[in-house]
Amino acid sequence: MTSQAVKIGICGLGTVGSGTFKVLRRNAEAISARAQADIDIALVGARRDNPDCPLGDTPVSRDIFAVARDPQVQVLVELIGGTTVAKELVEEALANGKHVVTANKALIAEFGNELFALAEQHGVVIRYEAAVAGGIPIIKALREGLAGNRVEWLAGIINGTGNFILSEMRDKGRDFAEVLTEAQALGYAEADPTFDVEGIDAAHKLVILASLAFGMPLQFSSVYTEGIARVTPDDVEYAEELGYRIKHLGVAKQGDEGVELRVHPTLIPEARLLANVNGVKNAVLVEGDAVGPTLYYGAGAGAEPTASAVVADIVDLARELSAGQVCRVPALGFATARLKDLPVLPMEAVVTPWYLRMEAEDKPGVLSSITSIFSEHGISIEALIQKAPAAGETRVPLIMLTNAAAQGNMDEAVATIEALDSVSGEVARIRVEDLDG
Ligand SMILES: NC(=O)c1ccc[n+]([C@@H]2O[C@H](COP(=O)([O-])OP(=O)(O)OC[C@H]3O[C@@H](n4cnc5c(N)ncnc54)[C@H](OP(=O)(O)O)[C@@H]3O)[C@@H](O)[C@H]2O)c1
Repeated sequence: MTSQAVKIGICGLGTVGSGTFKVLRRNAEAISARAQADIDIALVGARRDNPDCPLGDTPVSRDIFAVARDPQVQVLVELIGGTTVAKELVEEALANGKHVVTANKALIAEFGNELFALAEQHGVVIRYEAAVAGGIPIIKALREGLAGNRVEWLAGIINGTGNFILSEMRDKGRDFAEVLTEAQALGYAEADPTFDVEGIDAAHKLVILASLAFGMPLQFSSVYTEGIARVTPDDVEYAEELGYRIKHLGVAKQGDEGVELRVHPTLIPEARLLANVNGVKNAVLVEGDAVGPTLYYGAGAGAEPTASAVVADIVDLARELSAGQVCRVPALGFATARLKDLPVLPMEAVVTPWYLRMEAEDKPGVLSSITSIFSEHGISIEALIQKAPAAGETRVPLIMLTNAAAQGNMDEAVATIEALDSVSGEVARIRVEDLDG
């Protein structure tokens, strides 16, 4: 390459760090042609060697902060994860005038507002394509490709582990705990799977997507988050009977009363493309007023898929640095001064159709007492499945699909039904989304 090389420093040599190093090396020629500059890995910060990723003669420091302080490093690539040391590292890099590329969704979702402000203050940028849906270029799509649209809503399968578990439950009729153990053995789920199965990881990603889509500051604490642990094989089967699949969705919608930000198990009509995204794959469906629905699908995690997104950010920055100026696409796509503090709708006011499952006595009058409670709350039943009682059993499962009802209304109706002597235990509830773009 003729122009000067752009010097980067990579911090963290784990899954994504080593993937990034390998992709930069393997595709160096094409990458430098696209970046219009060579990418020189000036320093790697790693507290130990990674036997899967020999570094050759690339300089290494055991102190990752040495990368943030190295005067020759122009772009620090943060791939250590977490929100403590990674935050300090990014702050130091920004303060030292370095651009930052990160794959760290927790850091961006929870501290993005302050880090973007710090970056602006120091005249540098933070790029984070890999933080949402791994290798899928969804950040660039929302920030640039869809810039002409008012985004009405988006819905995404943005946690591969959760999707793998639900796909296995459906395909093999297995229960949640059993599939989770297998996902851990296969390396899809962490030893502590809380972030994945309780929806926290998806909430991190959803809040980033919503801010990019609607032009609002990141509001991680406002996301409603419900995991998949309570979905049973029966729910998966009954959903099929009704023509639906259960997916763990992140949903963001822009309405007149406020923005909906929610992560929860969801019934989707089986004909929708999103209903057919299986295994560890991710997908995001975005509805723009001009373009209509667009769907982005691919690998949401893994060393090289994630590296693909990290390298895309590096190329963007290198291209700009070699041209002598960094084109400052605002961190959230909208001019910072024009971000709007849109109100987030309380969940009681969120309106969706519902799937309900309950155990009720199999005797005359029970069904009508249940349906009359729903109608008193303005909720009508769109579909009903009543199973025959098992031998010697007097109770039967009742499965219902309702029309659209506000959660607050549904809460009241369900509390009344749960208090009936003829109904035992809790009424299981899962929201339904039509996703008809
Ligand atoms: N894995 C994926 O598929 C994926 C997908 C999208 C985004 N991400 C994000 O990418 C980031 C990295 O994930 P990963 O999967 O590559 O993690 P990982 O395999 O655990 O690698 C993290 C690396 O950072 C190092 N590290 C952690 N804390 C450190 C500290 N305090 N000082 C120095 N080094 C430290 C670790 O060193 P040791 O080996 O010595 O512990 C390890 O080499 C995370 O933010 C993650 O959310 C990952």
